[in-house]
Amino acid sequence: MKKMTAPAIRDLKGQRKITSITAYDYSSGQIADAADVDIILVGDSLGMVVLGYEDTLSVTMDDMLHHTAAVSRGASRALIIGDMPFMSYQPSVSMAVANAGKFLSKTGARAVKLEGGFPFLEHVRAIVDSGVPVQGHIGLTPQHVARFGGFKGQGKTARSASALVEEAIALEEAGCFSIVLEAIPSEVAKEITERVTIPTIGIGAGPDTDGQVLVYHDILGLFDRFVPKFVKKFAQLRGDCIGAVNSYCAEVLDGSFPAEKNFTNMDVEELKMFKTLLKDKERV
Ligand code: KIV
Repeated sequence: MKKMTAPAIRDLKGQRKITSITAYDYSSGQIADAADVDIILVGDSLGMVVLGYEDTLSVTMDDMLHHTAAVSRGASRALIIGDMPFMSYQPSVSMAVANAGKFLSKTGARAVKLEGGFPFLEHVRAIVDSGVPVQGHIGLTPQHVARFGGFKGQGKTARSASALVEEAIALEEAGCFSIVLEAIPSEVAKEITERVTIPTIGIGAGPDTDGQVLVYHDILGLFDRFVPKFVKKFAQLRGDCIGAVNSYCAEVLDGSFPAEKNFTNMDVEELKMFKTLLKDKERV
């Protein structure tokens, strides 16, 4: 299987659908890579599904670098994108460039994603000019949860929908190699997908985007604090995990674990000598 890069992802538009999934550590990175996913996004959703925060606002650059590096150690083929956390790029263009660069120099990611459109075009241009491919992200951008007043779908009115179309075109012009469209009406996502030449990756944006992305814990049914309408659980691993841990506890309690095959015994002669040594010591 060919190694995925930002230009390779860009070239997939119009050829076939693009697959993307989040991952946050070595083992989820390995699983995503083994499943031949095109893009592994180390999303700042990390804050909610791994670190247990209410939203993504508390996630730091250190968190993201730590987890992105772990994912990279597990994945060798997919394109790994590091998600720029809240306040790692908003304050200034130079801060955006410096932090985007850290994902490439310290973690093995080969692109970054940042949320927002018009206010961040200059940031995108400067990051791309510095050599870092950028994936845009518009619609429901969770880092704006305070301004939106919750995790609410966007682009539902004619005016806001046409602003999203303009924003997507501006992000392409600023140099993005792809754009995530989150929680927007399918008609708006279709219009954007037809009007930009870079791939759109949808999450809650209907069937007409160039690709789809979902959160690892949602796909596997590992996270049930809330389940957005756009999520499909392809497995129910939370129940399976609880069942497995319950079985372990039951076997520890009734003594059936560990069984013979789960431990080693000493060689008979060594055991005899061991007992003799212990007795000798008692006598002293
Ligand atoms: O942080 C994240 O996981 C994301 C995706 C859901 C697009 O931004």
